[in-house]
Amino acid sequence: MSPCVRVLLALCLVGYGYADSGDNSTTPNVIYDLTDEQYYAMPRLFSLDDYMSCLAPGGVYCLGSFELAAPFDHHLFQTMKGWSNNWVDNFNHTRLHRGVCVSRHCPHTGNEEPPEEWFESCVNASTISTYNISARLYQLEYCRRGITDPPPLTNNQRAFAAVFATLIALAAISTCLDLTLTDDAKKGKRFYLSHFKRIPGLDALLVNTTVVAGSDGTITTDQLS
Ligand SMILES: *[C@@H]1O[C@H](CO)[C@@H](O)[C@H](O)[C@H]1NC(C)=O
Ligand SMILES: *[C@@H]1O[C@H](CO)[C@@H](O)[C@H](O)[C@H]1NC(C)=O
Ligand SMILES: *[C@@H]1O[C@H](CO)[C@@H](O)[C@H](O)[C@H]1NC(C)=O
Ligand SMILES: *[C@@H]1O[C@H](CO)[C@@H](O)[C@H](O)[C@H]1NC(C)=O
Repeated sequence: MSPCVRVLLALCLVGYGYADSGDNSTTPNVIYDLTDEQYYAMPRLFSLDDYMSCLAPGGVYCLGSFELAAPFDHHLFQTMKGWSNNWVDNFNHTRLHRGVCVSRHCPHTGNEEPPEEWFESCVNASTISTYNISARLYQLEYCRRGITDPPPLTNNQRAFAAVFATLIALAAISTCLDLTLTDDAKKGKRFYLSHFKRIPGLDALLVNTTVVAGSDGTITTDQLS
């Protein structure tokens, strides 16, 4: 390589560095070599949470890319920019690609926001807390929500279910008795049946229940009376 070509090449590189460093610094910001320590101090380019284990319990999973930003005096960020400016050899490390189970990493604090905003604030919070670098979502691939199982019953609902089941059982028993007892036996038991039916409110409920049971054509309400 002739000296002339070398000088030209050097000028090109320097010019590129000035043009791309984007601030008023007087040195070109292109970094060709990093120690392992420096390299791994940068945020990871790619990170993917497990998709199925997020969606199975009804979680929210989002995939997208983020643009990082930090003030000029942020040393790590300048290193990342310098390294990225050698775009022939390196990935752009000021763009991160993330697949995050947002419902697990950033459980909601109450207010419902659109999933992409949730995703952005979740990743931003993590880059701010780890690197003091803010992250802006610039490309969202998708956000998906897993199918939620119905929430477990509250104690009130359980109690209601138990009472209701008891009523149905009573209705079934009384209907069975009514159907199976002979007329003579019924006369003898009339006292119990009518007494049973006199519990306030219960007879109305029972009649209603029997009407429901009767809709499949087997029992009618007047069999009880
Ligand atoms: C860069 O230089 C311009 C003008 O020379 C100035 O207005 C601006 O504030 C400078 N920016 C920084 C970050 O120093
Ligand atoms: C790297 O990505 C940032 C953010 O998208 C962009 O502003 C910058 O120009 C990119 N750098 C290179 C060298 O392509
Ligand atoms: C984080 O960055 C802001 C400027 O964006 C700066 O004022 C603050 O001191 C930084 N915090 C830490 C812990 O470095
Ligand atoms: C990221 O978080 C910081 C601090 O909470 C906030 O100032 C900034 O606006 C957020 N950036 C985005 C893109 O949400």
